[in-house]
Amino acid sequence: MNKRAVVFGAAGQLGSGLVRELQRRRYSVMAWDRAQVDITDPAAVQNALANYDAEVVFNAASYNQVDVAEK
Ligand SMILES: NC(=O)c1ccc[n+]([C@@H]2O[C@H](COP(=O)([O-])OP(=O)(O)OC[C@H]3O[C@@H](n4cnc5c(N)ncnc54)[C@H](OP(=O)(O)O)[C@@H]3O)[C@@H](O)[C@H]2O)c1
Repeated sequence: MNKRAVVFGAAGQLGSGLVRELQRRRYSVMAWDRAQVDITDPAAVQNALANYDAEVVFNAASYNQVDVAEK
């Protein structure tokens, strides 16, 4: 049976690359972008994880606007 993985922030550069690589390695992948699961919403994260029995969880979500973050 395939291993099951979850990827948060799946629409980003790292997230989409992770999804591709996990699929290449024959993982069953559940991938969520921000519109589907916002990681700043604990209930949404808990609900997402409770409904998918993942063996490994990747968080690729990030606030990546360096200039704005520095301000
Ligand atoms: N790409 C690289 O070459 C590289 C190299 C070294 C390290 N990293 C690290 O890897 C991480 C991801 O980088 P990246 O290049 O993949 O960035 P990215 O392309 O900007 O992707 C980040 C993703 O996170 C999502 N996101 C932001 N806030 C979120 C939230 N609250 N809930 C759910 N999703 C959320 C963004 O969605 P929205 O578009 O809707 O905001 C976006 O899809 C960062 O920590 C970065 O420092 C990346």
